[in-house]
Amino acid sequence: MAKAAILGYGTVGSGVYDVLTKNSARVAESSGEAIGVKYVLDLRDFPGQPVEKVLVHDYEQIVSDPEVSVVVEVMGGLKPSYDFVKRALEAGKSVCTSNKALVAEYGPELLETASRHNVLFLFEAAVGGGIPIIRPLRDCLSADRIDRIAGILNGTTNYILTRMEREGSTYDQMLADAQSLGYAERDPSADVDGWDACRKIAILSSIVTGKQVRYQDIPTEGIAKISREDMRYASEWGMKIKLIAAADFTAAHVSCHVAPTMIGKDSQLYYVDDVINGVHVHGDQVGDLLFTGAGAGKYPTASAVACDVVECVRSAGLPKRNLTFAGRAQLLPEDEEQTAAFIRIPQTQLDAARKLLPVEKEIHGVAPGEAGISVSAMRVGDIKAAAGKLDAIRVLRMA
Ligand code: HSE
Repeated sequence: MAKAAILGYGTVGSGVYDVLTKNSARVAESSGEAIGVKYVLDLRDFPGQPVEKVLVHDYEQIVSDPEVSVVVEVMGGLKPSYDFVKRALEAGKSVCTSNKALVAEYGPELLETASRHNVLFLFEAAVGGGIPIIRPLRDCLSADRIDRIAGILNGTTNYILTRMEREGSTYDQMLADAQSLGYAERDPSADVDGWDACRKIAILSSIVTGKQVRYQDIPTEGIAKISREDMRYASEWGMKIKLIAAADFTAAHVSCHVAPTMIGKDSQLYYVDDVINGVHVHGDQVGDLLFTGAGAGKYPTASAVACDVVECVRSAGLPKRNLTFAGRAQLLPEDEEQTAAFIRIPQTQLDAARKLLPVEKEIHGVAPGEAGISVSAMRVGDIKAAAGKLDAIRVLRMA
């Protein structure tokens, strides 16, 4: 029997424990051998719960136990996760994690460490929760050139935006709901300010390019400023506002951003609501693909982590093939990107706007004293400059 250890018995950790124990027959069938959870590491005690039998408080016990071949890191954050993961890999143990912060920050180094020690460093759950997206990009699409990925990669913000749109509810009420359902990060600003989606698109872009796309270099805007008026403008045009993380790949560079975006019914992402995530991938041979499913939550995320554990056990004794993020990808400066946009301006600036911008559509009367305009695709730098001159109230990308 293969032995695994789980670091962290929070929402995801307890989910992984449950999946590996409750679905043990299915897991054994897929892995080629049974997998037992030998240790669960947590600072807390869980008196009376089955996990009590395997609970430990000292990481040394895990890292020094040669019987443990797979370590599952689901604590989140960078400290002490990074040290624990690095030491596990150096001790010859494969690591599976759902921790996108860890992968976005230390991915290249941890993948290289894993390969050096002939073990695996896997993170299917770090992007899109339960949706298989990393394996498809790594394995199923390896003969395609991927030229675009656009996704709703954060469940919390999609949940908040969906309910704001349907119920006209406030942002604060919906955030509290998302937290109580276990969707939100420990620090919810990671969700609402777009950093969680930013790390995820950085990871997907790194997989596509084989180079590191630094999340710190990706222009990122969250949803905290999105108001009921913005929602009303979108619905007047039969559109929705979604937090979109997108990357376009050319031979020369990657252009990548995270931003609240108005999207219409012609986009498959329009139909991705609630906590559901959706990832649209375009490959030059396969065409358009859409991956959707639960992007957050205990069991969807645990399902993806457990699948990584199965891959680790199944590959015992075989040479290990990790992803590589070698060197840095070249990012196009945001101002050079092209996008269509929606702009709210004071009514008094309408004539000026018509002269300055390629206005396509106008809308009046949604909010007093202002107008909404849409402009066809142009340089982001030029949109920003025009918005400044026109005292714009809100600028949103349109897709
Ligand atoms: N807070 C994240 C989300 C959890 O809402 O999508 C999954 O990464």
